[in-house]
Amino acid sequence: MSRILAFAGSARRDSLNKKLARAAAEAARKAGAEATFIDLADYPLPLYDGDLEASEGMPANAMRLRELFLAHDALLVASPENNASVSSLLKNTLDWLSRDIGDGKGANAGTAPYAGKTALLLSASPGGFGGVRGLPHLRQILATLGVTVLGAQFSLPRAHEAFDEHGALKDARAVEAATRKLAEASRKLAA
Ligand SMILES: Cc1cc2nc3c(=O)[nH]c(=O)nc-3n(C[C@H](O)[C@H](O)[C@H](O)COP(=O)(O)O)c2cc1C
Repeated sequence: MSRILAFAGSARRDSLNKKLARAAAEAARKAGAEATFIDLADYPLPLYDGDLEASEGMPANAMRLRELFLAHDALLVASPENNASVSSLLKNTLDWLSRDIGDGKGANAGTAPYAGKTALLLSASPGGFGGVRGLPHLRQILATLGVTVLGAQFSLPRAHEAFDEHGALKDARAVEAATRKLAEASRKLAA
């Protein structure tokens, strides 16, 4: 069974992208995968700074995230669109985890948390384009880190109207279809 790690690039309590990532994790379970949802608000990180890294090493929360990444086969990432790109939280998190901590895990230890993984990209925005303009940037970042990013992706426009009072998607069909593709692709890779 493939193990999928789902998270959003927003720490906001009522984040639309967190709701979307949770819905996608649920859809992944329905598709037969094991899915773990994590909230980046539980893993606060300093802004990446080479001097800080040199003096203190990788922050404890980045180490915890790194272990979570290593323990999963695939990623479900719901990215807010900030000024037509990814959120600074998401970029900062991905940057910290790309650093080599010298544990020798993987051919290139810096990319060990990413290498060989498959990812499905999602976005949610109150706007009419659903945050889709940030996803090519996220695709490029993850591909550079060795992730196979699925061609299929899903953006949720007018996302503030798309969830019911329990935080469930009113219409989950599109996210379920996209997530099924990730579950299938990661199952093949995990086999
Ligand atoms: C600095 C900043 C830039 C933003 N730029 C965009 C944008 O380019 N396109 C867009 O659709 N929404 C943009 N938004 C609105 C966000 O999509 C909206 O706040 C969204 O709810 C954030 O995601 P979250 O709900 O998961 O926290 C921006 C918000 C902020 C704070």
